[in-house]
Amino acid sequence: MKLSVSILSSVDKKKDINLLNNSGISYFHIDVMDGKFVSHTSLSSSEVIELSKISQKKFDVHLMVEDPLSYIENIKNLINIEYITIHLEIDKDIKNILSKIRKYGFKSGLSIKPNTKVESVIPYLDDIDLILLMSVEPGLGGQTFIEDTTIRLQKLKEIINGKNIALEVDGGINSKTIDKISIADIAVVGSFITTSDNPLEQINKLRV
Ligand code: DX5
Ligand code: ZN
Repeated sequence: MKLSVSILSSVDKKKDINLLNNSGISYFHIDVMDGKFVSHTSLSSSEVIELSKISQKKFDVHLMVEDPLSYIENIKNLINIEYITIHLEIDKDIKNILSKIRKYGFKSGLSIKPNTKVESVIPYLDDIDLILLMSVEPGLGGQTFIEDTTIRLQKLKEIINGKNIALEVDGGINSKTIDKISIADIAVVGSFITTSDNPLEQINKLRV
């Protein structure tokens, strides 16, 4: 399983990126919030561009925003982004946005909140490279993992039926809950790593 470290709860994001550049993690998970799709705001596009300059890992960008296209336009020249993920629940032309993400050379992801039916991804399977299954309500780091994520993840695995789509899980993952999502391809881990005095030791505890 690959690790994508969310820097949402980092007190000093640059310091954590510099430290984790030297670890075995695969991505930095960049949580973007607009104060509309979720009540908090985080990371303007210029902040993401600044952070990308010091990162030696690829970015996995999670857009918790109502209007992803305007944000994507601002970051479309960043070469160290691998995935850009949007939410299925927004009231926008999802297929059009997913095709723009691919057109700009990124891999496209679709995220679903804990109460969104897993079957709702079915119409988009040819348009995506990743499904981001939320295991907490989006909006805040440090929440508790929702237990029925395990069964939802299993259902998604059956739905994608061998297609080349990565399964990523986000929220409340730590050294105890990571075993509950062992069939995922990518685990997003935030506060378990970034609120510790020794982030590198926390990564070892995840045993991935
Ligand atoms: C929640 C974010 C998550 C979160 C993960 O809205 O999408 O990426 O920061 O943080 P932890 O691991 O603290 O739940
Ligand atoms: Zn996230």
